[in-house]
Amino acid sequence: MKNIKESEIAKFWTDNPMIFQGKEYGYKLNLNNPDEIFKNMERIHRRKNSLHQKDGEPFLSKFINYKNLKGKTVLDIGFGIGWLTNELQKKAKKVYGIELSKTSLKLSNYRFRNCKNVSLKIASAEKIPFKNNFFDFIISYGVLHHAENDNNCFNEIHRVLKPAGKCFLMLYRKGGPKYWWSKLFRQGILKGSLYKHNFNIEKFIHSVTDTHGLVTKGAPLSRHYTRKQLKKKFSNFKKSRFIITGNADEWKKKPFERLPLTNLLGNKILHWLVGISGAYWFIKLQK
Ligand SMILES: C[S@@+](CC[C@H](N)C(=O)[O-])C[C@H]1O[C@@H](n2cnc3c(N)ncnc32)[C@H](O)[C@@H]1O
Repeated sequence: MKNIKESEIAKFWTDNPMIFQGKEYGYKLNLNNPDEIFKNMERIHRRKNSLHQKDGEPFLSKFINYKNLKGKTVLDIGFGIGWLTNELQKKAKKVYGIELSKTSLKLSNYRFRNCKNVSLKIASAEKIPFKNNFFDFIISYGVLHHAENDNNCFNEIHRVLKPAGKCFLMLYRKGGPKYWWSKLFRQGILKGSLYKHNFNIEKFIHSVTDTHGLVTKGAPLSRHYTRKQLKKKFSNFKKSRFIITGNADEWKKKPFERLPLTNLLGNKILHWLVGISGAYWFIKLQK
């Protein structure tokens, strides 16, 4: 497979910023109306009975201890439209953000125009423009699997984290119904997309990942990791935890929606199912 350059990745995300629109989210949004974009994003992320936060608490509060961020210096890598930057800036002393997408930077600069403790810029996770041991906490949600060279990013995170500093990452997981059923079987085999990509699974997976409900043709690069791969990649951290998670909707979509059982399952069982089969890794690291 041809090497994908960072300039191509930056262009894709500048042309297709992660604003949560499309078939999957039921919206076509207008980039000239950022307030509507932020309102829609809140609606999507603040779902009731979320696996990741209790109702009314900050996003991901089951995994991130926001109280510990008081007085801390934080980095949000690939901040997108800033749904996590916003939570972090309420607690941390200073939140820095880096992004490749110029559109995301424009939207987020507008969003945080009155927040003096937020500083955002265009830069790559492969070359984080900060000195060694600078950050207390680093977060990156759904970003580094899209980078040209993920190992460069992981090494950079280790470099700029203070000793004992913490990091939270979301990366795609190779496994579960979304990967095997929705992507490989339905789109790859039944719809013939795998054939169109000369049975190159990697190339095919990139083409059907982050299509934003088919508004776009898929991000240039979207890696999916096994636990074994992650353990190796993060072996230089003192502590690491790899948690399987995802979205409860994975078990409500085809073919499971046809099973009356899935619709009858309570949230507890759905959450348990996602915890053993979900499409994401939540990764907690300490340097
Ligand atoms: C799926 S979006 C996620 C955005 C945001 N974190 C969110 O959860 O909505 C992926 C983002 O990663 C950014 N990105 C990809 N590679 C990057 C890199 N090497 N350095 C910084 N940002 C990167 C893209 O520009 C894009 O905005």
